[in-house]
Amino acid sequence: MWSLNPDDLKISFSELVSALSDAVDLISPVLNNHHKQVTYISYRIAEALNYPRERLADLITAGLMHDVGALDLSERIELLDFEEEEPYIHTIGGYVLLRDLNIFEKVGEIIKHHHRPWEYGEGSACRDEPVHPESHILYLADRVAVSIDKSAGALNQVEDIYKKIKGQANSRFNPRFVEAFESISKTEAFWMDLVSPDLDSRLKTIWSKFDRRLGLKELFEVTRVFAKVIDFRSRFTAVHSSGVGAVAETIARKMSWPEMDCQKMAIAGNLHDLGKLAIRNHILEKPGKLTRAEYNIMKAHAYHGYYLLDKVSGLEKINEYGSLHHERLDGSGYPFRVKGKALKEGSRIMAIADVFTAITEDRPYRRGMEDDRAIRVVERMGLDHKLDAAIIALVKDNFEEMNHYRRKAQQQAAREYRNFEKEIHFTRNLYCREEGSAFS
Ligand SMILES: [Fe+2]
Ligand SMILES: [Fe+2]
Ligand SMILES: [Fe+2]
Repeated sequence: MWSLNPDDLKISFSELVSALSDAVDLISPVLNNHHKQVTYISYRIAEALNYPRERLADLITAGLMHDVGALDLSERIELLDFEEEEPYIHTIGGYVLLRDLNIFEKVGEIIKHHHRPWEYGEGSACRDEPVHPESHILYLADRVAVSIDKSAGALNQVEDIYKKIKGQANSRFNPRFVEAFESISKTEAFWMDLVSPDLDSRLKTIWSKFDRRLGLKELFEVTRVFAKVIDFRSRFTAVHSSGVGAVAETIARKMSWPEMDCQKMAIAGNLHDLGKLAIRNHILEKPGKLTRAEYNIMKAHAYHGYYLLDKVSGLEKINEYGSLHHERLDGSGYPFRVKGKALKEGSRIMAIADVFTAITEDRPYRRGMEDDRAIRVVERMGLDHKLDAAIIALVKDNFEEMNHYRRKAQQQAAREYRNFEKEIHFTRNLYCREEGSAFS
């Protein structure tokens, strides 16, 4: 089904990963630029140690994604030290989310141990598993980044931060990396870069040297991983993006769209709720109706999603298909209130796919609707000029087939979610039993 033409699309891998990383940091102003700061510090340490190109590339990706497993801790994220209490939950979470895809295999392994203390060399392994040196670089970089007080000038803090890190050389941090950190931290520009509003462009210059380009197939696979990061925060949404993508792609096929655009629709399904990464769990999982203020916060996910993807060049069409899924034909949607003809076919398809999939899924405050009731609700929205009635008629005519693809995609996602939960649960029990040994 995937186009074999390698020139079909060339999306920058770093720009895409950076969009995910920015989404995660949006959850709290305290986290502002955290992933980028950690990436920058890690890169500078590894560069000072002459790490080869491929290792630098994986380290950059790991830096940008290192805390993706921490999203269900969003309520505690304000306390930047949250990671040190039960670090293995978010490190294993990140690892399990990433490891299945070749492109992220090493990245996942680096993330898995990014809170493993050095312990006079014992930290070079965890149980019988070797720990990549990059995990220790990331750990050091992470602790430096959280030590910076954003309200005070960075240069005023250099001495204190360095003293703190140096004091834990060998016990907590690999002394080789502490030494490399010492040499780079002597340069004022290093600290100025870290707190600069322009850190983004510094990083862009760096990763342009290592970037890779993704064709459609790879883009789908990478965005499937993103969909898991977005959806697995809650069991209620665990299979949502997979279902939306499958329904939207099937509708596009039934409308005889060109093959490449059908594939883009599936990718747009994976990304349509990217902005939800910026929304806290207590709102996402509230077991009741949202208050007006909470609903206003929730609305921001569509806005953030749009502007996060807007920074990724080549993704314009996919962004239009995915990020406008809450717009309505009569202009009553959000956040741009696009209406009538201005709301293009791709966005109309996605809106139907999103509504249909969402109402068939359980939510904390209601059970999922049966298929026939769901189709009646969608039809009503067509009659009310919110959704496109002609597309809904087509959905109704091909209902069995569309539902087949939705179920198939959601069953696969449900299996992956069960494995994810099982592994987190297993790890939690394992490390809690041995508290004080592996991660003291
Ligand atoms: Fe972490
Ligand atoms: Fe972190
Ligand atoms: Fe949404």
